[in-house]
Amino acid sequence: MTELINSQAIEMSLEERVKEDRVHKSLYSDPEIFEQELDRIFNNTWVWVGHESEVPEVGSYKTATIGRQSVILSRDRKKELHVLVNRCKHRGATVCEGKKGKTRAFTCPYHGWGYALNGELRALPKPEEYEGVIDKKDYPLDKLRHETYNGMVFATFNDQIESLEDFLGGAKKWIDLFMKQGGGYPVKVLGDHRFRFPGNWKIQLENTTDAYHFPIIHKSFISSLDDQTSDIFDFLDGAGYVEDLGNGHSVMVMIPELVNLEDNLDEPIPERFEQLAEALRAEGHEEAEVRKLVRAAHGTGFNLNLYPNVACSMAFFRVLNPVSVGETEIHHVAIGGEGAPEAFNQKRMRLHEHFQGPMGFGTPDDAEAWERVQKGAQSGTDGWILLNRGQANLHTSKDGNVAGAVCSETGMRAAYQQWLRSMTADSKEA
Ligand code: FES
Ligand SMILES: [Fe+2]
Repeated sequence: MTELINSQAIEMSLEERVKEDRVHKSLYSDPEIFEQELDRIFNNTWVWVGHESEVPEVGSYKTATIGRQSVILSRDRKKELHVLVNRCKHRGATVCEGKKGKTRAFTCPYHGWGYALNGELRALPKPEEYEGVIDKKDYPLDKLRHETYNGMVFATFNDQIESLEDFLGGAKKWIDLFMKQGGGYPVKVLGDHRFRFPGNWKIQLENTTDAYHFPIIHKSFISSLDDQTSDIFDFLDGAGYVEDLGNGHSVMVMIPELVNLEDNLDEPIPERFEQLAEALRAEGHEEAEVRKLVRAAHGTGFNLNLYPNVACSMAFFRVLNPVSVGETEIHHVAIGGEGAPEAFNQKRMRLHEHFQGPMGFGTPDDAEAWERVQKGAQSGTDGWILLNRGQANLHTSKDGNVAGAVCSETGMRAAYQQWLRSMTADSKEA
């Protein structure tokens, strides 16, 4: 029986596996599809590698992953950013294993080749035997094309694709709104933590604009809130919506009054932010600034999913790295304001820990559900993942995009249609 199910899936084309309203479960479990995804998606489009605030000074660096490839985001002596392939030009060892930090150079631990912050090869121990053999200038670390939008740094192995701004398209306005969370200060990464779950990366990709699951699986989070806040999170019957932003990106607006954090500043300060407001007043901040900071501390009322690997999710970045067909690494990146009052950044961290933290009330429940979905992909005769919720109840958004009710599966449909376009692009060109 199992063989029959598998052999049926193997014979299906990608188009047969991705319908407008459903995708085949082999997309979570077929190792060949996973290898193709690394090549056609992760090695071929714009992939998030970091936020500028993670590399603020000359010599700052962080490592990131594009598909399976390790890269380094570095800031050189002229303060310019570079994205370098983390692979020594001698015999291929990684030259940097640190997650982030400051350095003067990247020195390969194997034979000591030393690279400058911009990737140029500078040091060659015992160079005599290389005389007349190699010239240092011919062996810099490979460099990737990279572009930045509102502090978010993306890189790509594909020199031919459109500009980052064109790729982000309709998502740009939402990134701008998301960055208001600094409360008038530039957004800054406060820290991050990582975990892995035994499931395919697209299970996480789907989750960011999935409001349907929220009141169900996040019951423990909701029960840990005060009444006023749990009312805010009771958004399924509200005026929220999910909008397809093009190129696989989507936004899910859960709490419309928190879309623009600079609006409605005269509303009463919620109970859970009273202490923060008091602390800010005690530091001498004007009432207008107190209100702006308190509102920003909330986080936005929407989740923005940027295909393929980063989400701006209410109050944090969520980055996903595919490890294997059945394993994914997630980075949860907490953000606050650069130079903002300490009380504000501390409150942001506590709110982040409350939901996203390793001991939080939210993410561990999500991770359990994702693991179960992967388990389900290995079994059963019904081989489909349904994406058809809200499909008969669509409208056109103010920006002219396809949109559905807040708990419709519009965002997932958008991501999978882009997935299909990326995965079949070569065969269409040929
Ligand atoms: S592999 Fe890097 S110096 Fe030899
Ligand atoms: Fe969730």
